[in-house]
Amino acid sequence: MRERAEEHVSTFHQQTIDPSLVPKRILYSGAEMPAIGLGTFGSDHVSAEEVAAAVEYAARIGYRHFDCAAVYANEPQIGMTLSRMLESEIHRDQLWITSKLWNDKHVEEQVIPACRQSLADLQLDYLDMYLVHWPFPNYHPPHCEVTSRSPHAKPYIHEDFMKTWRQMEKLVDLGLTRHIGTSNMTIPKLKRLLRDARIPPAVNEMELHPHFQQPELFEFVRANGIEPIGYSPIGSPARPERDRTTEDTTDLEDPVIIRIAQRLGVHPAVVCIKWAVQRGQTPIPFSIKPTNILANLQAVVSEPLTDDEMREIARIDRNCRLIKGQVFLWKEGQSWEDLWDLNGEITPA
Ligand SMILES: NC(=O)c1ccc[n+]([C@@H]2O[C@H](COP(=O)([O-])OP(=O)(O)OC[C@H]3O[C@@H](n4cnc5c(N)ncnc54)[C@H](OP(=O)(O)O)[C@@H]3O)[C@@H](O)[C@H]2O)c1
Repeated sequence: MRERAEEHVSTFHQQTIDPSLVPKRILYSGAEMPAIGLGTFGSDHVSAEEVAAAVEYAARIGYRHFDCAAVYANEPQIGMTLSRMLESEIHRDQLWITSKLWNDKHVEEQVIPACRQSLADLQLDYLDMYLVHWPFPNYHPPHCEVTSRSPHAKPYIHEDFMKTWRQMEKLVDLGLTRHIGTSNMTIPKLKRLLRDARIPPAVNEMELHPHFQQPELFEFVRANGIEPIGYSPIGSPARPERDRTTEDTTDLEDPVIIRIAQRLGVHPAVVCIKWAVQRGQTPIPFSIKPTNILANLQAVVSEPLTDDEMREIARIDRNCRLIKGQVFLWKEGQSWEDLWDLNGEITPA
């Protein structure tokens, strides 16, 4: 499988982009995070070896930010790639590596070992960012159906989350990660965390694409010194069937996105990436195709969208959440909206 991926990569005409040209986000610590990263979630259809080969290619052409997670089940393979990179031309301090704590490791004594495991797999001494992947401590097996429910599923309980967060803070004290952050949080949950944290989250990773702009949460995090990282920035066109509903809309088919893509002579995906970086979030597009990996990086160093185009895209928000998180529901009769605190309060247990 690795051979297939490497062959795929090596047949592509190589062009590079100077990483110093890629815009950076300055975190509250003063650290500079590249404003685009490569996603590494291969889901059901892309092997760990193919993702690792994509990471290698991406680093060669100028990416320095990689969004990893233990649950993506490919950190050992990515680690081999990173180790090769670090033995040659790239220094550790030029890379930005994120990993994430999976939901079955929220138990107090498991946070530090989970981070150490990711470090061992990625063959690193420290991470730049370690996120709590979801605010719910609910295990579900990879690839399970959205109707699947854990009999031990729990709601968000702030006191429990803070026990996990205290361990996250310890990871910073121990030097195992430079920053900590959250993912899939809501405003009411973040308000409590900001009230109680000794080390506040430096980023919140959240679904963000033209049809799901989350303006309120986006503004809230920025106003509180938290950088928004945008996942599924292209609208996750290859997500598995089980993650699709009939109401879902498709960013890549939006007439506004298509018209701008035609003006620029690029794929509509590239317009989504340009919009994301210009708006102020950090997109982490996934791809294993060299042409697309390169196009997404070129997107952030080439002609920007016009102010009118930015305004037009702001108007095509459909409030269309694609990653609904149904598997985290904790009791009968709930709907996925309950996970997202839509009425401004944490949904009661
Ligand atoms: N924190 C969380 O809970 C969470 C949740 C979901 C995702 N994530 C992160 O976000 C990353 C990205 O999200 P995602 O994978 O759901 O969706 P995405 O990045 O929106 O979409 C990826 C898809 O877009 C295609 N693509 C990428 N660049 C393209 C281009 N220039 N032209 C045409 N097609 C292009 C890719 O196909 P090809 O491979 O064929 O190019 C791939 O199928 C994940 O890998 C993961 O790291 C985090």
